[in-house]
Amino acid sequence: MKNLILGIESSCDDSSIAIIDKDNFSCVFDKKISQDESHSVFGGVVPELAARLHSTALTKILEQCKEYFPKLCAIAVTNEPGLSVSLLSGISMAKILALALNVPLIAVNHLKGHIYSLFLNEKICLDMGILLVSGGHTMVLKIDNRGFLKILAKTYDDSFGESFDKLAKMMNLGYPGGEKIENLALKAKEKKIKFSVPMKHSKELNYSFSGLKNQARLEILKYEKLDENLKSEIAYAFENAACEHILDKLEKIFKQEKFKIFGVVGGASANLNLRKRLQNLCEKNECVLKLAPLKYCADNALMIARAGVDCFERREFVRIEDEILSPKNKNFIRI
Ligand code: KG4
Ligand code: ZN
Repeated sequence: MKNLILGIESSCDDSSIAIIDKDNFSCVFDKKISQDESHSVFGGVVPELAARLHSTALTKILEQCKEYFPKLCAIAVTNEPGLSVSLLSGISMAKILALALNVPLIAVNHLKGHIYSLFLNEKICLDMGILLVSGGHTMVLKIDNRGFLKILAKTYDDSFGESFDKLAKMMNLGYPGGEKIENLALKAKEKKIKFSVPMKHSKELNYSFSGLKNQARLEILKYEKLDENLKSEIAYAFENAACEHILDKLEKIFKQEKFKIFGVVGGASANLNLRKRLQNLCEKNECVLKLAPLKYCADNALMIARAGVDCFERREFVRIEDEILSPKNKNFIRI
């Protein structure tokens, strides 16, 4: 019986392939090769380098899951949003596989994939709120009871995760910066540096992290040399203001929307400071907080394969000969 769906994720700098059993959501194969080290020296992702690394990493992983090919019933691949050259690596592989194995092809929006990281082993639930915090996006969403998505807030400029990456770059910490900043912040002792929370007194629900980044830049310029201690103090002040900014707007949103369930997804949802604050917010509002397993917060193919299962059930397939790459977020209308 053909009951397995193979998912491919290559929208940015993680090459990942996973295989899920569509009948019971169990994961039968899951592998990711991260390119972090290769991009670290540049302080961010270099698209051309990412594409070249995907082409070798994806084939290497594919080789390891050949034994499952006869049981595959579909191929799911991230087709938007992301770096076009990176997306293309996964899309080309997915098309060739679907053609060779004569199985349908499923195009998965990356942000929808992140939402599915909350439901890797279970049925999706609708009628809930979502905070999506990644390197490319920061948004608050509502999924209505029919599965339609409404964006309640988003960032005007940098995303939450991206702002951590940029601070890390300013302090020569390498890429990606989120975990590095979080770990440094834990070492802060004096905690005297304070950054103001962006748009604190505005009724506006959207986010902006560029001003906070600038506050950090100006603080760094005050010192001739940044030692480990100073870096920790800056990281602490930055992380707190960034998390406070997220929570400040969410508190306003929670007053408008009476969420019963609220989920947080995306690479930066691994941040424990943010998780703790969200837990408090949800408790205060008698709302259940749903978190993705730490391993599946960042980009991964299992969430793409899992999203592929629901598309498969609805027979949402794309034609192999069609142009499915769309680096912009075009198909983010319903789950
Ligand atoms: O979802 P993801 O893997 O890729 C995108 O779709 O963008 O998210 C990666 C982002 C990076 O910006 C990374 O610095 C950030 O998530 N990130 C964090 C943490 N771990 C990863 N940001 C803050 N705190 C963290 N612990
Ligand atoms: Zn992502």
